[in-house]
Amino acid sequence: MVILITGGAGFIGSNLIHYWLAQNPGDTIVNFDALTYAGNLANLAGVESNPNYHFFQGDLRKQEQLDEVFEQFSIDSVIHLAAESHVDRSINDPSPFIESNIKGTFQLLETARNHWQEDLKDHRFLHVSTDEVYGTLGKEGLFTEQTPFAPNSPYSASKASSDHLVRAWHHTFGMDTLITHCSNNYGPYQFPEKLIPLMIRNCLLGKELPVYGDGLQVRDWLYVEDHCEALDVVFHRGQSGESYNIGGLNEWENLSMVRYICQFMDAELGNSPEQSCLNLIRHIQDRPGHDRRYAIDASKIQNQLGWQPRHQIGEGLEKTMRWYLDHQEWVEQVTSGAYRDYYKHHYGTG
Ligand code: NAD
Ligand code: TYD
Repeated sequence: MVILITGGAGFIGSNLIHYWLAQNPGDTIVNFDALTYAGNLANLAGVESNPNYHFFQGDLRKQEQLDEVFEQFSIDSVIHLAAESHVDRSINDPSPFIESNIKGTFQLLETARNHWQEDLKDHRFLHVSTDEVYGTLGKEGLFTEQTPFAPNSPYSASKASSDHLVRAWHHTFGMDTLITHCSNNYGPYQFPEKLIPLMIRNCLLGKELPVYGDGLQVRDWLYVEDHCEALDVVFHRGQSGESYNIGGLNEWENLSMVRYICQFMDAELGNSPEQSCLNLIRHIQDRPGHDRRYAIDASKIQNQLGWQPRHQIGEGLEKTMRWYLDHQEWVEQVTSGAYRDYYKHHYGTG
């Protein structure tokens, strides 16, 4: 089977490619990625020499590039991850989110439909979405697959829009689609603009740790490899037209997460109490429209497909922090250039 993975040079996509090639050695993977600031081929070091892996630099917004990759590789199935993915960037400038996440998904769906029109039902299209489409929760409750969409950021609105397109392509055209809604991921290769890798990097550099508002917002954290396994399970055993929530069963307040990272880094760096990373925590202005709490009810995927997360949060965080400590060159490489401008613009400090 030839599977097109879009966004395979990003955080989850690159982890998925490593995972897939190891777990499904009979499949061929074609990684379609535009290599935006978030895409990095260094994430795929080690798989480039695998004869079952191919990279195609292409942009979802360019129809001719989509046609070319489908023709060149006779694509059988799609796992669609490529997207603009950072909420703060979507607040600074929503336009790329509309272009890549909504229009890009539309073009990908249409390309797949045109290329598969003879036997549409024999080709799977797995769309990787987020729990953020459901909006925000109060202190109680969990997102289920029945929770109505109520996206609050330009990012989540663009993802919700793309989900609706995928749903419609199933119902109207009979495409064999699946949608997953996953909670916050963490792990190796995550770009240091997201909470966990940003805090690790800043601890290492002795830079301030910017916590939005009171820091009591809650996220449900999932180790990225567990997400990859869930995608494998949904792709192979999910029911056509269905959506599946994927979650970590790990709710943390942001401030507790930042403190946990500080304590780990203090121990690693041998910091005295005066040098503690805890002293670097700064509460800064809250994110506009900040969702207070996300939490996933993952009982559908657990009961119907037998998936549940393997990593406890302590184990996953330790693996992650050690990976960043061991890959400081990678961090340096991906945060040079445009990242510095973004950081200064967003946080007002270099
Ligand atoms: P990421 O930002 O790390 O990677 C996105 C990748 O998509 C990059 O390699 C980028 O170059 C590529 N890309 C962006 N626009 C493109 C375009 N127009 N054409 C081709 N390639 C393009 O994102 P991520 O964190 O790996 O997330 C991957 C997917 O998973 C996204 O769809 C996101 O919405 C979803 N998701 C992420 C999380 C999370 O916690 N990170 C949680 C749930 C769902
Ligand atoms: P993030 O990693 O951007 O993921 P998302 O917004 O998609 O959940 O942020 C996770 C949480 O951490 C979110 O509540 C915002 C907060 N946060 C900070 O407090 N400071 C920061 O510098 C960042 C990037 C995020």
